[in-house]
Amino acid sequence: MKVTIVGAGIVGAAVAYELASRGAQVRLIDVRGSGQGATLASAGILAPYIEGHSADLLRLGLCSLDRYDSFITRVATDAQRAIEYRRLGTLQVARTDDEAWQLEQAARVLAGSSVPHTYLDGNAARNIEPSLAEGVRAGLLVPQHGYVGVASLMSALQEAARRHGTTLSIARVNRIDLCDGGVRVETSEDSPVADAVVVAAGSWSGGIPMAPAVPPPVRPVRGQLLQLRFPEPLISHVVWGTASYLVPWEDGSVLVGATVEDAGFDERVTVAGVRQLLESAEEIVPAIGSATFDDARAGLRPATADDLPIIGRSSTMRGVYYATGHYRSGVLLAPLTAVMIADLVLDGRECPELALARPDRFGL
Ligand code: GLY
Repeated sequence: MKVTIVGAGIVGAAVAYELASRGAQVRLIDVRGSGQGATLASAGILAPYIEGHSADLLRLGLCSLDRYDSFITRVATDAQRAIEYRRLGTLQVARTDDEAWQLEQAARVLAGSSVPHTYLDGNAARNIEPSLAEGVRAGLLVPQHGYVGVASLMSALQEAARRHGTTLSIARVNRIDLCDGGVRVETSEDSPVADAVVVAAGSWSGGIPMAPAVPPPVRPVRGQLLQLRFPEPLISHVVWGTASYLVPWEDGSVLVGATVEDAGFDERVTVAGVRQLLESAEEIVPAIGSATFDDARAGLRPATADDLPIIGRSSTMRGVYYATGHYRSGVLLAPLTAVMIADLVLDGRECPELALARPDRFGL
């Protein structure tokens, strides 16, 4: 089966890899190449018990996290490349009574579901993360959380997909149409026809003309991210505060993210964004001022009205599928999305979680 995937970010690449590894003939199309959109500025945090703000999002996140170990092993083996992936736990911290109360409630919910966790007072939190500020009053440790180094994952996914025959075309997609032989993607270079087309263009998914389908209602939400370097190792867990988070990479650098901004399609880093991140991170870890800058980047998260992704088949265009709108969870949900789409496209099989992300809830 021939499949064209529009968008080569983390979701498009994971879908391409999954389809190609099951024998499909896959072509990825992206005007900027691989992983140059939101993926580039993702911290790669895998923390569904923090970011799963609704029951449906939590279920999708847990289901995908369950797949992560085997996903990483498969991709690294197929690509023959190392992927930075560590389940070192998250430490969510509270600085006010209200935040501490909220952490206590979160701990109760975890206890009710038998999820391993530890609720800590401020001193106990500083015992495991000595660089935390004196103002930190409480912490919630969830050991099964972690992060994946997105650059290493993207590079391995691209190589693994390539070894399974996937090709990548750098081209602008002008429209998607139904035609006699299947679905045609008209690009700035050529117009390939495939049996199936997967729209995985993140924030740009809504800008592709697709008659008779309406464009997916996805809007960009900018996230700015800093990569800092410290003279000494700073933290050993992902540290999550109310206005920023910190992720310790193996190379000694620390990612500090992320702003949440309505800035249209503006992908630039701003002084206000950097200042906001530094100030909020300093409230958690006062040593932030001793860092040097490795990098500052920005990406556009593809948001939907209900914060859930759009995954599944189009109800108006036969052979068209969506894998978009993952908002803050593209990296976490990539393995699950890839399996959902591959099951659907290749075997017509609907995994139960597909009901949570149906495109037809937006008339798609
Ligand atoms: N998932 C973290 C973020 O979007 O900032």
